[in-house]
Amino acid sequence: MARRVRRRVAVLISGRGSNLGALIGAAQDPDYPAEIALVLSNRAEAAGLERARAAGIPTAVVESRPFGRDRAGFEAAVQAALDAHGVEIVALAGFMRVLTEGFVTRWAGRMINIHPSLLPVFPGLDTHVRALAAGVRLHGCTVHFVTPGVDEGPIIAQAAIGVRADDDEASLAARVLAQEHLLYPAALAWVAAGAARLEGGRAVVDAPATEESLRSPLPASPPLPTRKA
Ligand code: GAR
Repeated sequence: MARRVRRRVAVLISGRGSNLGALIGAAQDPDYPAEIALVLSNRAEAAGLERARAAGIPTAVVESRPFGRDRAGFEAAVQAALDAHGVEIVALAGFMRVLTEGFVTRWAGRMINIHPSLLPVFPGLDTHVRALAAGVRLHGCTVHFVTPGVDEGPIIAQAAIGVRADDDEASLAARVLAQEHLLYPAALAWVAAGAARLEGGRAVVDAPATEESLRSPLPASPPLPTRKA
Protein backbone atom coordinates (compact mmCIF):
# COMPACT_ATOMS: atom_id res chain seq x y z
CA MET A 1 0.00 0.00 0.00
CA ALA A 2 1.26 3.48 -0.85
CA ARG A 3 2.50 5.41 2.16
CA ARG A 4 0.58 8.59 2.79
CA VAL A 5 2.79 11.65 2.63
CA ARG A 6 2.60 13.78 5.73
CA ARG A 7 4.09 17.23 5.30
CA ARG A 8 6.58 18.28 7.99
CA VAL A 9 5.28 21.29 9.86
CA ALA A 10 6.96 23.61 12.34
CA VAL A 11 4.66 25.47 14.72
CA LEU A 12 6.12 28.78 15.92
CA ILE A 13 4.84 30.05 19.26
CA SER A 14 5.56 32.72 21.84
CA GLY A 15 3.23 31.78 24.69
CA ARG A 16 0.38 29.60 25.90
CA GLY A 17 0.19 27.37 22.81
CA SER A 18 -3.48 26.40 22.88
CA ASN A 19 -3.63 26.49 19.07
CA LEU A 20 -0.50 24.37 19.05
CA GLY A 21 -2.40 21.92 21.24
CA ALA A 22 -5.21 21.78 18.68
CA LEU A 23 -2.73 21.13 15.86
CA ILE A 24 -0.95 18.43 17.87
CA GLY A 25 -4.30 16.77 18.54
CA ALA A 26 -5.28 16.83 14.86
CA ALA A 27 -1.92 15.48 13.74
CA GLN A 28 -2.29 12.47 16.02
CA ASP A 29 -4.70 11.09 13.42
CA PRO A 30 -2.50 9.07 11.00
CA ASP A 31 -4.72 10.27 8.12
CA TYR A 32 -4.00 13.93 8.89
CA PRO A 33 -1.81 15.24 6.04
CA ALA A 34 0.74 16.93 8.31
CA GLU A 35 2.96 15.96 11.20
CA ILE A 36 4.32 18.42 13.74
CA ALA A 37 8.04 18.00 13.21
CA LEU A 38 9.16 20.92 15.38
CA VAL A 39 7.81 23.44 17.85
CA LEU A 40 9.93 26.57 17.98
CA SER A 41 9.56 29.42 20.44
CA ASN A 42 11.26 32.78 20.70
CA ARG A 43 10.69 32.65 24.46
CA ALA A 44 12.14 29.88 26.62
CA GLU A 45 9.33 30.30 29.15
CA ALA A 46 6.51 29.82 26.59
CA ALA A 47 4.05 27.36 28.15
CA GLY A 48 3.41 25.80 24.75
CA LEU A 49 6.87 24.24 24.79
CA GLU A 50 5.71 21.99 27.62
CA ARG A 51 2.75 20.80 25.52
CA ALA A 52 5.16 19.86 22.74
CA ARG A 53 7.52 18.03 25.08
CA ALA A 54 4.60 16.15 26.63
CA ALA A 55 3.61 15.00 23.12
CA GLY A 56 7.18 13.93 22.35
CA ILE A 57 7.66 16.61 19.68
CA PRO A 58 11.12 18.14 19.17
CA THR A 59 11.39 21.70 20.43
CA ALA A 60 13.76 24.58 19.75
CA VAL A 61 14.17 27.90 21.49
CA VAL A 62 15.61 30.83 19.58
CA GLU A 63 15.44 33.73 22.01
CA SER A 64 14.76 36.92 20.10
CA ARG A 65 15.88 39.26 22.88
CA PRO A 66 19.66 38.72 22.56
CA PHE A 67 19.45 39.61 18.86
CA GLY A 68 18.02 43.06 19.67
CA ARG A 69 17.37 44.82 16.39
CA ASP A 70 19.22 42.21 14.39
CA ARG A 71 16.09 40.62 12.98
CA ALA A 72 17.97 38.97 10.12
CA GLY A 73 20.33 37.33 12.63
CA PHE A 74 17.37 36.04 14.65
CA GLU A 75 15.70 34.69 11.53
CA ALA A 76 18.88 32.99 10.32
CA ALA A 77 18.90 31.06 13.60
CA VAL A 78 15.22 30.19 13.14
CA GLN A 79 15.87 29.09 9.55
CA ALA A 80 18.74 26.86 10.70
CA ALA A 81 16.40 25.10 13.15
CA LEU A 82 13.75 24.66 10.43
CA ASP A 83 16.37 23.24 8.05
CA ALA A 84 17.72 20.89 10.71
CA HIS A 85 14.25 19.37 11.10
CA GLY A 86 13.37 19.19 7.39
CA VAL A 87 10.44 21.57 7.80
CA GLU A 88 8.22 22.11 4.75
CA ILE A 89 5.43 24.27 6.18
CA VAL A 90 5.51 26.88 8.96
CA ALA A 91 2.41 27.54 11.06
CA LEU A 92 2.52 30.65 13.26
CA ALA A 93 0.40 30.13 16.36
CA GLY A 94 0.60 33.13 18.64
CA PHE A 95 4.13 33.91 17.44
CA MET A 96 4.52 37.54 18.44
CA ARG A 97 7.50 38.56 16.31
CA VAL A 98 7.17 40.46 13.04
CA LEU A 99 9.14 38.64 10.35
CA THR A 100 11.24 40.39 7.71
CA GLU A 101 10.30 40.49 4.06
CA GLY A 102 13.25 38.24 3.25
CA PHE A 103 12.11 35.47 5.57
CA VAL A 104 8.47 35.79 4.54
CA THR A 105 9.36 35.67 0.84
CA ARG A 106 11.45 32.58 1.38
CA TRP A 107 8.41 30.83 2.89
CA ALA A 108 5.80 32.30 0.52
CA GLY A 109 2.87 29.92 0.16
CA ARG A 110 4.33 27.68 2.85
CA MET A 111 3.79 29.84 5.94
CA ILE A 112 0.38 30.45 7.53
CA ASN A 113 -0.87 32.39 10.53
CA ILE A 114 -3.97 32.48 12.69
CA HIS A 115 -5.34 35.82 13.79
CA PRO A 116 -8.17 36.51 16.25
CA SER A 117 -10.38 38.71 14.06
CA LEU A 118 -12.24 38.60 10.77
CA LEU A 119 -9.47 40.17 8.72
CA PRO A 120 -9.08 42.66 7.15
CA VAL A 121 -10.74 44.29 10.16
CA PHE A 122 -8.75 44.53 13.37
CA PRO A 123 -5.23 43.54 12.35
CA GLY A 124 -2.66 43.84 15.14
CA LEU A 125 -3.27 43.55 18.87
CA ASP A 126 -6.26 43.79 21.25
CA THR A 127 -8.68 42.56 18.61
CA HIS A 128 -11.48 41.64 21.02
CA VAL A 129 -11.45 44.98 22.83
CA ARG A 130 -11.51 46.75 19.47
CA ALA A 131 -14.35 44.57 18.19
CA LEU A 132 -16.43 45.46 21.28
CA ALA A 133 -15.60 49.15 20.93
CA ALA A 134 -16.59 49.11 17.25
CA GLY A 135 -19.88 47.41 18.05
CA VAL A 136 -19.52 44.71 15.39
CA ARG A 137 -22.19 41.99 15.46
CA LEU A 138 -19.92 39.34 14.01
CA HIS A 139 -16.38 38.61 15.13
CA GLY A 140 -14.11 35.63 14.65
CA CYS A 141 -10.77 34.40 13.43
CA THR A 142 -8.84 34.09 10.20
CA VAL A 143 -6.16 31.78 8.85
CA HIS A 144 -4.09 33.39 6.11
CA PHE A 145 -0.90 32.98 4.15
CA VAL A 146 1.82 35.17 5.59
CA THR A 147 2.98 38.07 3.48
CA PRO A 148 5.31 40.94 4.48
CA GLY A 149 2.44 43.20 5.65
CA VAL A 150 1.41 42.18 9.17
CA ASP A 151 -1.96 40.34 9.20
CA GLU A 152 -2.46 41.21 5.52
CA GLY A 153 -1.93 37.94 3.68
CA PRO A 154 -4.44 36.15 1.43
CA ILE A 155 -7.22 34.56 3.46
CA ILE A 156 -7.55 30.77 3.51
CA ALA A 157 -10.39 30.32 5.99
CA GLN A 158 -12.47 32.21 8.54
CA ALA A 159 -14.89 31.35 11.32
CA ALA A 160 -17.42 33.81 12.71
CA ILE A 161 -19.34 34.07 15.95
CA GLY A 162 -22.10 36.42 17.00
CA VAL A 163 -21.25 39.12 19.53
CA ARG A 164 -23.61 39.09 22.53
CA ALA A 165 -24.85 42.16 24.33
CA ASP A 166 -23.23 41.03 27.58
CA ASP A 167 -19.88 40.05 26.06
CA ASP A 168 -16.69 41.36 27.58
CA GLU A 169 -13.17 40.83 26.31
CA ALA A 170 -12.76 37.51 28.15
CA SER A 171 -16.03 35.97 27.00
CA LEU A 172 -15.46 37.05 23.42
CA ALA A 173 -11.87 35.81 23.42
CA ALA A 174 -12.98 32.43 24.77
CA ARG A 175 -15.60 31.88 22.04
CA VAL A 176 -13.23 33.03 19.30
CA LEU A 177 -10.48 30.79 20.67
CA ALA A 178 -12.80 27.77 20.54
CA GLN A 179 -13.31 28.55 16.84
CA GLU A 180 -9.56 28.98 16.32
CA HIS A 181 -9.01 25.47 17.64
CA LEU A 182 -11.37 24.10 14.98
CA LEU A 183 -10.31 26.35 12.13
CA TYR A 184 -6.53 26.08 12.34
CA PRO A 185 -6.26 22.28 12.10
CA ALA A 186 -8.70 22.33 9.16
CA ALA A 187 -6.83 25.09 7.34
CA LEU A 188 -3.44 23.49 7.92
CA ALA A 189 -4.80 20.23 6.52
CA TRP A 190 -5.91 22.03 3.36
CA VAL A 191 -2.50 23.63 2.92
CA ALA A 192 -0.61 20.42 3.68
CA ALA A 193 -2.74 18.46 1.21
CA GLY A 194 -2.22 21.12 -1.48
CA ALA A 195 -5.94 21.94 -1.50
CA ALA A 196 -5.24 25.53 -0.38
CA ARG A 197 -2.49 27.28 -2.30
CA LEU A 198 -1.03 30.72 -2.86
CA GLU A 199 -1.38 31.51 -6.57
CA GLY A 200 -0.75 34.90 -8.14
CA GLY A 201 -0.98 36.60 -4.77
CA ARG A 202 -4.37 35.04 -3.94
CA ALA A 203 -5.36 32.07 -1.84
CA VAL A 204 -6.96 29.35 -3.94
CA VAL A 205 -8.97 26.85 -1.91
CA ASP A 206 -10.31 23.71 -3.62
CA ALA A 207 -12.64 22.82 -0.77
CA PRO A 208 -16.27 23.51 -1.62
CA ALA A 209 -17.49 26.80 -0.24
CA THR A 210 -19.80 26.37 2.71
CA GLU A 211 -23.25 27.65 1.95
CA GLU A 212 -24.46 28.45 5.44
CA SER A 213 -24.82 32.15 5.91
CA LEU A 214 -23.46 33.31 9.21
CA ARG A 215 -25.57 35.99 10.79
CA SER A 216 -25.58 37.67 14.11
CA PRO A 217 -28.29 36.11 16.25
CA LEU A 218 -31.21 38.45 15.71
CA PRO A 219 -34.66 37.02 16.40
CA ALA A 220 -36.78 36.30 13.30
CA SER A 221 -39.06 39.19 14.10
CA PRO A 222 -38.12 41.97 16.49
CA PRO A 223 -40.16 42.40 19.65
CA LEU A 224 -42.76 45.14 19.26
CA PRO A 225 -41.89 48.32 21.11
CA THR A 226 -43.89 48.71 24.29
CA ARG A 227 -45.47 51.97 25.13
CA LYS A 228 -45.84 53.18 28.68
CA ALA A 229 -49.51 53.64 29.56
C1 GAR B 1 -4.38 33.28 19.50
O1 GAR B 1 -5.62 33.87 19.83
C2 GAR B 1 -3.92 33.74 18.15
O2 GAR B 1 -4.97 33.93 17.24
C3 GAR B 1 -3.26 35.05 18.49
O3 GAR B 1 -2.56 34.80 19.67
C4 GAR B 1 -3.28 33.82 20.41
C5 GAR B 1 -2.31 32.73 20.80
O4 GAR B 1 -2.93 31.82 21.68
N1 GAR B 1 -2.39 35.50 17.44
C6 GAR B 1 -2.24 36.77 17.10
O5 GAR B 1 -2.76 37.69 17.70
C7 GAR B 1 -1.31 37.01 15.93
N2 GAR B 1 -1.55 38.30 15.35
P1 GAR B 1 -2.33 30.39 21.89
O6 GAR B 1 -0.85 30.59 22.25
O7 GAR B 1 -3.11 29.83 23.04
O8 GAR B 1 -2.50 29.62 20.63
